Amino acid sequence: MKDKIKVAVIGCGNIATSAHIPAYVSDPTAEIKYFCDIIPERAEAAVKNNGCGKAVVDYKDILDDPELDAVSVCTHNDMHSVISIDFMRHGKDVLCEKPAARVLSEAERMLAVSYETDRILSIGVCNRYSDAVNKIKDLISGGVLGEVYHVYASFRAYRSIPGLGGDFTTFAASGGGSLIDWGVHYLDLVEYVCGSPDPLTVSGEAFSKLGSPIKDYLFTHMWASQDYNVNGTYDVDDSVTGLIRTTGPVISFNGAWAENIKDGGTFIDFMGTKGGIHHDYCGGFTLYTQKDGMLLTTTPEFRMKEMHREEVLDFIRCVRAHERNRNDIAEAIKTSRIMQAVYDSSESHREITLA
Ligand SMILES: NC(=O)c1ccc[n+]([C@@H]2O[C@H](COP(=O)([O-])OP(=O)(O)OC[C@H]3O[C@@H](n4cnc5c(N)ncnc54)[C@H](O)[C@@H]3O)[C@@H](O)[C@H]2O)c1
Repeated sequence: MKDKIKVAVIGCGNIATSAHIPAYVSDPTAEIKYFCDIIPERAEAAVKNNGCGKAVVDYKDILDDPELDAVSVCTHNDMHSVISIDFMRHGKDVLCEKPAARVLSEAERMLAVSYETDRILSIGVCNRYSDAVNKIKDLISGGVLGEVYHVYASFRAYRSIPGLGGDFTTFAASGGGSLIDWGVHYLDLVEYVCGSPDPLTVSGEAFSKLGSPIKDYLFTHMWASQDYNVNGTYDVDDSVTGLIRTTGPVISFNGAWAENIKDGGTFIDFMGTKGGIHHDYCGGFTLYTQKDGMLLTTTPEFRMKEMHREEVLDFIRCVRAHERNRNDIAEAIKTSRIMQAVYDSSESHREITLA
């Protein structure tokens, strides 16, 4: 058995630097062999800051390295499928950031290649490693809520369009806006917690109302602001709404990178016949139940581990064991199917039947 799993990080931007790289560096069973970025200074900075690895500009230069076991794909969405497929075809396991891809057809190719090559392909739907999310999953599967018949997800911000005019707001680079960028996490979380119900019908509308023209969009601060470009492209959704009937609960949602309401909120409500849960996204939760003629409100406290780190550590464990994990593309693709149907429904202004 190998002493250390050797990895490459492809794309050394925000999520690589804040999540993937520190997690690999903290894992004594892993070693970063390459940092790759088309902006050479970013790969070189990663080498310098972490005191390991070699900087490369073109990921194709390392595809044939027999020592390399696995890669993190942390580029923007347009390259997820291309780079993941190339590495899997060269015998490497892949942890690819969310969303799996820009459109369902790309995600389906990734799934097919993963199973054809027998390489692990995990998607960065990191909430599956949240302690709170897993406790909610246990409460639901343990029957504490009774029948969960409706789940409502809210991922609404006031003025939070990322990197206006850059990759995030350009359809060709991202495949969509608020739904594919934020909604992917919420829909995947609901799928995971509710036991992966199959979607039956999807109805949605995606709006692009506030971000364009770019020069007229008012904001106080902007994340991913290094890409802010007033002459760039804005052709994605800045808010979205939808209703999904599944073999389990009905899922409804409202999402917005930007809307003219200040406190829309980021949470998920699970409504059951015996109880309910209000989950503050990326935080804890409140459980509403009843017992002995009393209504009970419980806000449990527990230690929460850092979910991105747990996700990366589990990926390394699975690479070593050659074992698929809870983020496997076969699970994550369900969310790609739903999101594609929301966009298709929005375009046709009709409900889409999936099963
Ligand atoms: N899981 C999460 O919570 C989370 C959070 C943020 C971003 N993300 C995802 O991570 C991905 C990257 O987002 P980001 O915010 O880090 O973007 P970013 O722009 O900060 O970083 C992307 C990097 O990839 C590099 N790159 C682009 N094409 C490349 C190529 N062909 N080869 C090598 N490098 C290339 C860019 O130069 C850039 O440095 C997106 O898909 C995004 O959806 C996930």
